[in-house]
Amino acid sequence: MRILGIETSCDETGVALYDSEEGLLGHKLYSQIALHSEYGGVVPELASRDHVRKLLPLVDELLADCQLNKKQIDGIAYTKGPGLVGALMVGACTGRALALALDIPAIGIHHMEGHLLAPMLEAQSPAFPFIALLVSGGHTQLVRVDGVGEYRLLGESLDDAAGEAFDKVAKMLDLDYPGGPHIATLAEKGEQGRFTFPRPMVDRPGLDFSFSGLKTFTLNTVVKHALDDGLPDHQVCADIACAFQEAVVDTLVIKCRRALEQERMKTLVIAGGVSANTRLRERLEQALTKIQAGVFYARHEFCTDNGAMIAYAGCQRLLAQQNDSLAVRVTPRWNLEDLEPVGNGCNKNT
Ligand code: KG4
Ligand code: ZN
Repeated sequence: MRILGIETSCDETGVALYDSEEGLLGHKLYSQIALHSEYGGVVPELASRDHVRKLLPLVDELLADCQLNKKQIDGIAYTKGPGLVGALMVGACTGRALALALDIPAIGIHHMEGHLLAPMLEAQSPAFPFIALLVSGGHTQLVRVDGVGEYRLLGESLDDAAGEAFDKVAKMLDLDYPGGPHIATLAEKGEQGRFTFPRPMVDRPGLDFSFSGLKTFTLNTVVKHALDDGLPDHQVCADIACAFQEAVVDTLVIKCRRALEQERMKTLVIAGGVSANTRLRERLEQALTKIQAGVFYARHEFCTDNGAMIAYAGCQRLLAQQNDSLAVRVTPRWNLEDLEPVGNGCNKNT
C-alpha cells in the first residue's frame, strides 16, 4: 500500500510517500522559518496562506522525483491535530479532496503519534512496548506505548514545553526562532559549571515536568550579567546557554530513567524537535547504558515536523482498515490517549 503523507500543523509543509512493502519512497519539506523569523514566532494566518501556496506544488515535485503519478497512490494521511486550526485545515482539505478525486481512503493523523512513530522509519527501529519521551515546541510528555494507538500518558509538562523553553531562552539571548538549534550551538562554546541552574521537579516523585521556573531563573541570570546593550557578553551568553541546556537535559534524563524503572521497561524512544538535540542523545545514551536500556530516535530531519512520519502512521492505520469519513474535520486539541488502537501493522519494519 502506497501512502501520501501531508503535514501542515504549524510552520513546515511536509509531504512524503511511504510504501508498506518498500518503506519510504521519498519526502519533501518546505520550511516557513524565514517567513516568520522577523516576528520571533509563528504567525498563524501567514502560516495557513503559505501552506496553501506550497502544498500542491510540493506534492507534484515529490511524485515527479519518485517517478510516480497521483493514480499510483493508494491512500492519503494528513495531520488532523493538534496544531494551528487554519494550518491544519489546509492539509486536511487538500488531503481529503485529493482522496475523493482519486477514490482512495484518507485518514487524519495525530501529529504527536506521527512524531512518536518516526523512529520506526529507521533501519534500527524499536519494538513494542516502550516508553516514549515526546519533546516538541508544544508538548513534553512521557508515554507508555504498547502498540500503535495504545498510549498511556505517564507525565507531562505542567507549563511550558521543553522546545518552548528553548525558544524563549533563545529570545532572551537575542537568537533567531526556532531557538533550540541556536541554543545548542551556542552551548558548545559555553563553560560547563560556570553557572548551575535548577533541575525542576526532580526531587518530587512522579513524572511531570515544569520549565517555567527554570526559564525565569535564566532570565534573571541574563539580566544580572547584562551590559549596556541589554545582553551579557558573548562568552557569558554561551555559559548561560550551556547551563540552561544542561538543566533541561538533566531533568529529561532523570524522568526518563524513572519512567523506565516504574514501567519495568528497557526501551526508550525520544521524538519531536528537541530529540534532535545532540547533548540530550549523548546523555541519555550514557544514563541508559548503566541500566542496560536502549534509546531510539529518528534521523535529524525526521525529529522536527515532516511528512514522512505522517505517511508512516497513516499507513499503519489504513492497513488496519481505519479511515475517515468525507467530512473535513480538524482537532486542534487532541489527547493521545483517545486514539483508536491498531492491531499489528504489517510493514517492513514491524
Ligand atoms: O516537533 P517540532 O518540529 O514542532 C512541534 O511539533 O512543535 O519541534 C520544534 C521545537 C522547537 O521548539 C525547536 O526550538 C526545538 O523543537 N528544537 C530543538 C532542537 N531542534 C529543534 N531544541 C533543542 N535542540 C535542538 N537541536
Ligand atoms: Zn511537531
